Amino acid sequence: PKPQLLQGLTVTITAGPTREAIDPVRYISNHSSGKMGFALAQAAAELGAKVQLIAGPVSLPTPAGVQRIDVQSADQMHQAALELAVSSQIFIGCAAVADYKVAQVAAQKLKKTADDNLSLQLVKNPDIIAAVAALLQNRPFTVGFAAETQDVASYAKQKLQKKKLDLICANDVSVPGQGFNAEQNALTAYWADGEQPFALQDKSQLAEQLISLIYKRYSQ
Ligand code: C5P
Repeated sequence: PKPQLLQGLTVTITAGPTREAIDPVRYISNHSSGKMGFALAQAAAELGAKVQLIAGPVSLPTPAGVQRIDVQSADQMHQAALELAVSSQIFIGCAAVADYKVAQVAAQKLKKTADDNLSLQLVKNPDIIAAVAALLQNRPFTVGFAAETQDVASYAKQKLQKKKLDLICANDVSVPGQGFNAEQNALTAYWADGEQPFALQDKSQLAEQLISLIYKRYSQ
């Protein structure tokens, strides 16, 4: 058994993609597997935290001792996140939330027409983690992720500030074999006055190290 470092703490984590309906049979989504978020949930639970995992549509088993809330859309994830964040000490936004949703979800299946072109109007989804970090009361220590393909450090630091996060984990998803939908990940964590790199390793192992850094930063 591991030392129960997080005993008495509630950790809420978002994971996986969101799915934005177009009509009753179609949707917009992305390739997020949810593996990093589920690994973080498992690591936090093993250290004694009460863990609430808000999961988009993924095919992963629920880690032992973790309370899982399944959602589909960004709007559903947003609602669940705000509800659970206010009773959490730590919030980790690991989900790959769709930036946009379809403005008018069709009630019936869209039919092909004679036209060769089809336009869908999209509208911005709420920024879930920014909403959590902006809470005026019961704001948890808020940790985000940034998947970038270039200028990783500078984009990550911008997001840390803009979204008012306490810590951000930045990974370069242009490198094959790490990050999105991979078993392994390498990243650098940034906070207001520090940073720490984490070498390429299995997401479960990385998750343990990240939870320990997050706990350390939360405690200070
Ligand atoms: O802005 P970007 O999507 O790169 O930011 C990534 C971080 O913000 C992740 O922590 C992600 O979970 C979170 N996010 C969110 N809601 C959104 C978009 C991103 O919580 N609508």
